[in-house]
Amino acid sequence: MREAPIHDLDVLVIGAGGAGLRAAIEAAQRGLRTGVVCKSLLGKAHTVMAEGGVAAALGNVWAEDSWQVHFRDTMRGGKLLNNWRMAELHAKESPDRVLELEAWGALFDRTADGRISQRDFGGHRYARLAHVGDRTGLELLRTVQQRAVALGIEVFMECKILRLLEDPAGQVSGAVGYWRATGEPVAFRAKAVVLATGGIGRSWKYTTNSWESTGDGQALALWAGADLIDMECMQFHPTGMVWPLSVRGLLVTEGVRGDGGVLRDKDGRRFMFDYIPKMFAAETADSEAEADAWYEDHVHNRRPPDLLPRDEVARSINAEVKAGRGSPHGGVYLDIASRHPAEYIRRRLPSMYQQFMELAGVDITKEAMEVGPTCHYLMGGIRVDADSAASTVAGLFAAGEVAGGLHGANRLGGNSLSDLLVFGRRAGAAAADFAEGRPGTPVLDPAEIDAVLAAAEAPLAREAGESPYALQAELHEVMHNLVGIIRTGPELTQALDQLAKLEERTAALAVTGGRAYNPGWNLATDLPFMLTVSTLVATGALERRESRGGHTRDDFPDPDPELGSLNLVQRLGEHGDLELVREPLPEVPEALRALLDETTT
Ligand code: FUM
Repeated sequence: MREAPIHDLDVLVIGAGGAGLRAAIEAAQRGLRTGVVCKSLLGKAHTVMAEGGVAAALGNVWAEDSWQVHFRDTMRGGKLLNNWRMAELHAKESPDRVLELEAWGALFDRTADGRISQRDFGGHRYARLAHVGDRTGLELLRTVQQRAVALGIEVFMECKILRLLEDPAGQVSGAVGYWRATGEPVAFRAKAVVLATGGIGRSWKYTTNSWESTGDGQALALWAGADLIDMECMQFHPTGMVWPLSVRGLLVTEGVRGDGGVLRDKDGRRFMFDYIPKMFAAETADSEAEADAWYEDHVHNRRPPDLLPRDEVARSINAEVKAGRGSPHGGVYLDIASRHPAEYIRRRLPSMYQQFMELAGVDITKEAMEVGPTCHYLMGGIRVDADSAASTVAGLFAAGEVAGGLHGANRLGGNSLSDLLVFGRRAGAAAADFAEGRPGTPVLDPAEIDAVLAAAEAPLAREAGESPYALQAELHEVMHNLVGIIRTGPELTQALDQLAKLEERTAALAVTGGRAYNPGWNLATDLPFMLTVSTLVATGALERRESRGGHTRDDFPDPDPELGSLNLVQRLGEHGDLELVREPLPEVPEALRALLDETTT
């Protein structure tokens, strides 16, 4: 067994998206030795896929906007399964985080009078998303990356972390992994660790997620003894590309609808009017012209139904396709061409214009796009303390998509970029506090490191066995067919059975070639993570016998108030078996409850 060289740090951040880099900035600013590990190259993180904007109640376009309204929208959007304290902190602190980004050099689009422009997005009562065309995530990432590098953080690129390491007292002490390019082992000793690894979208067949989204942080946390909550709450973004097949699932930003794009069935009909939930029924428009007038006037709470929260739009599209009113390739049409001049579309949505032109040969200034739901975002995740982002394991913190709580059962678009800024900063600060207060040098166990590396390398030593690519393809089918946008008890039971069988088969994985530049082996090391986290999702989905937000049960189509007051908590039990317990949600204080009850006029 090759020995793993050890890098010594105060704070180790795993994940170099917006949350990870924002956490690293906070720790590095305090003068701590801070390192960031990423599976990919710096600057390639999935954060770029939050295209349309960052939600913050700046009040630049609508002076009436405030943190209170943002808090309410987030809680209502999440169907009240949210952690209220996280939602409060997020709504209060997002404006400062956006202004801070601007001070660090982010170039936001402007209003006519020179302030940061804000666009409409689903579920937000006011135009609230600060944006950079349809490349907001990219600009955010570029900005925090430059800041972090200027502060002198160490960056460990193309590194896969296999396990977190703990000292005898159960505090996280570091991590072990390997360099993806060479296959050589590496270990990190750190006084505090922040997980910021994003989601698990790559377990599904069609997803907006990049290849890195294999549930690394969720599985690392689970194996280290942490609690995870509400893992069943998975968001399907209503608009992914459906054609050509090679790019099916690729994100079509909600910014298209935010800027006035509308959804149509195969006959050109705006079907979303049929799906306006009962709560909006009294205000339903009678005609397209009336709806357009709403849009133009920005009459509060009478937003075009195309901008209902994502869960509702995704289910509506699904229903249209099932009813035979979809487009030729199994989606529906998204039309912005008939709504705006070509120059406006190209200026506001340059990436969408280029994406459809180059990948599908479709000119979105002249034709409608074909779109359909695609797996986008995991709302559930590592259970954290709202103020400190501390997990239930000492020395371990989590921020961004990998953490659960803020978004409840459904995330509003734009709230992920503000989430990762607000809680990335908090996680970095709390990890720095923890590191500063931890005496001595954390202890690593060489035997544990060897055992982890030996298990990871086993597929390289097998002459024959299971192909990682075949297992991944089967996993995609299971999650797409049985743990998709609409779920049932029998299908989820079947999924769990099939996931268990796939997990057993990972013991026989075999790959050809050596450790260097071996994508087959890299996938073999990702599969245990994907299967573990997929099992958490299916387990939670079976237990939550109700429909709420992104979690829709065909056999339990209504919300259940009792289940709606509970987190489903999953962790490893004493003997290493997965256990699930129901725990009451933290109670919303009276003053904030009043905000939720307030009716809009
Ligand atoms: O549609 C989008 O631009 C995605 C944004 C988000 O998920 O926050």
